[in-house]
Amino acid sequence: MNDSCEKKSGLDFVETIRPYQVLLIQDTFGEEVKFFMPQPQAWGSLTTIEALMLVKLMRIVNPKKVFEFGTYKGLTTRLLLENLSENDINDKRLYTLDLPALEGVSFQGGDLAVAAQSIGYSRKYLTSPRKNWVNQLLQDSMTLDGDDYKKQFEFIFVDANHEVSYARRDTENSLKMLADSPSCIVWHDYNNPEFPELTQYLDDLSKEIKIYHIGDTMLAFHLRGHEVPPKRVFE
Ligand SMILES: C[S@@+](CC[C@H](N)C(=O)[O-])C[C@H]1O[C@@H](n2cnc3c(N)ncnc32)[C@H](O)[C@@H]1O
Repeated sequence: MNDSCEKKSGLDFVETIRPYQVLLIQDTFGEEVKFFMPQPQAWGSLTTIEALMLVKLMRIVNPKKVFEFGTYKGLTTRLLLENLSENDINDKRLYTLDLPALEGVSFQGGDLAVAAQSIGYSRKYLTSPRKNWVNQLLQDSMTLDGDDYKKQFEFIFVDANHEVSYARRDTENSLKMLADSPSCIVWHDYNNPEFPELTQYLDDLSKEIKIYHIGDTMLAFHLRGHEVPPKRVFE
């Protein structure tokens, strides 16, 4: 997507920014990034630029604890896990949630095929020396109660079921679970033509909370405690 067909900035819309604007936000890390190159065909997971943007957003808020809706093959779980900063917390630091079974769940677009692959998959984070930091939750996110995790997570990635009733539920829970600033919620599949109601939902939500969409990606985010720098003006 290029600038000319991106949505205009404004309070009533999700504001589309360029990836460099995210990279320009200060983070306190001086450490290297541990990167796992995504597959060229990132079906069901993230593209390379999305993975890079996600790590950068996580570094900006430097979370003690992270929550991921939608583990799938655990690729993004591993990426986030390896890039958490060292901390003296002994507790689990990365909660990731996926389905135990497909029964009773509604799906839209390609989500059923992705979910079917995820059941029983030997997830990639299990190869990490930090695997003990992960708390794998196996439950339908529709049954999750955000009040059980009130303000516990500085960084939340919403990428489970993209049918809008699930996306709404996961988002409402995320807003309860989000810690005080600096903190961030990131959604995947904004502007994905497979899930137009999800995009509309985030557009509507952006009237209540500030949401940015990162151009050339399907990532949208709500960031607290940091400013996104303006676009550069080229003379
Ligand atoms: C798009 S994949 C997640 C990709 C992963 N975040 C990544 O970046 O690699 C979506 C995942 O959500 C799971 N899922 C679908 N419906 C769900 C639900 N109602 N509750 C929990 N997980 C669900 C699927 O099983 C699938 O593994």
